[in-house]
Amino acid sequence: MRIWARPRRNRICPSVLSADFSRLGDDITAVARAGADFLHVDVMDGQFVPDLTFGPILVRGMRRLTSLPLDVHLMIVEPLRYLEAFAEAGADHLIVHIETVKDPVQALRSIRARGLRAGLSVKPGTPLPAFLDALPEMDLALVMTVEPGKGGQPFLEGSPGRIQAVREVVERKSLDCLVAVDGGIDPEVAPVAAKAGADTFIAGHSIFRIPPDPATSLRTLRGALERA
Ligand code: DX5
Ligand code: ZN
Repeated sequence: MRIWARPRRNRICPSVLSADFSRLGDDITAVARAGADFLHVDVMDGQFVPDLTFGPILVRGMRRLTSLPLDVHLMIVEPLRYLEAFAEAGADHLIVHIETVKDPVQALRSIRARGLRAGLSVKPGTPLPAFLDALPEMDLALVMTVEPGKGGQPFLEGSPGRIQAVREVVERKSLDCLVAVDGGIDPEVAPVAAKAGADTFIAGHSIFRIPPDPATSLRTLRGALERA
C-alpha cells in the first residue's frame, strides 16, 4: 500500500519536448539508462496552447522505444474525446488540465476506469480550491510552474506556495498522490520545489539542452535533489 506516493527517492521525468527528434531513440535510451522514472510527453493542440506537438501515433512510437512509464500531459481542449486513443497508444499516466474539463472528478475517474494513472494539472493563474477538492481522485497532481505551452521558460516565483498548498492537502488526507512540478525545473530550483513539497520533477530544457549530454544533466538534477 502507498508504494506510489512514498518513493524511496524523488522521481525525475524528462520531457521529450526538448529532446532531439532526429535521434529520439538515443535520447530516450540515454535518460532511461541514467535513471529516469517516467518519460513525460507534452501533447499540444494549438488551441489550449498555441503550439502543436504529438498525437497518439507518436505516443505509440515512443511506446516502442522504451519501457519507461509514459506520462502523457494533455494540453488540449476536450481531452475526454482522446482518452481512449492515448490509452490504446500505450500511455501509462494521462494528465488533463482542470481548465479543460467541466467535471474534474469525472474526468479522473474515466482515466482510472481505463486502468491508467490519473493526473490533473493546473495552470499558474488558476485558483486552487477546485483542484484541491479533486485531489482524492488523483494519482498525480501536476502543478504547472510556468505558463503551459513551451519549454525553456523560467520557474515562476509564485510556485512554491501553490506546491505547498497541494502538499498540505495530500498529507492531511493521507492521499496516495504524487505532487509533480512542470516548467523551469533545473538543479537550482528543483530543491526549492522539493522543499515546498514536490516529489516528481518534470524537466525538458535542463535535461536535453544542457551540455554535455542528457544523461549527465539528469544525474546533476538527481544530485541536486539528493543534497537538498
Ligand atoms: C510546458 C510543458 C513542459 C515542458 C517543460 O508547457 O508542459 O513539460 O516540456 O519544459 P522545461 O523543463 O524546459 O521548462
Ligand atoms: Zn508537461
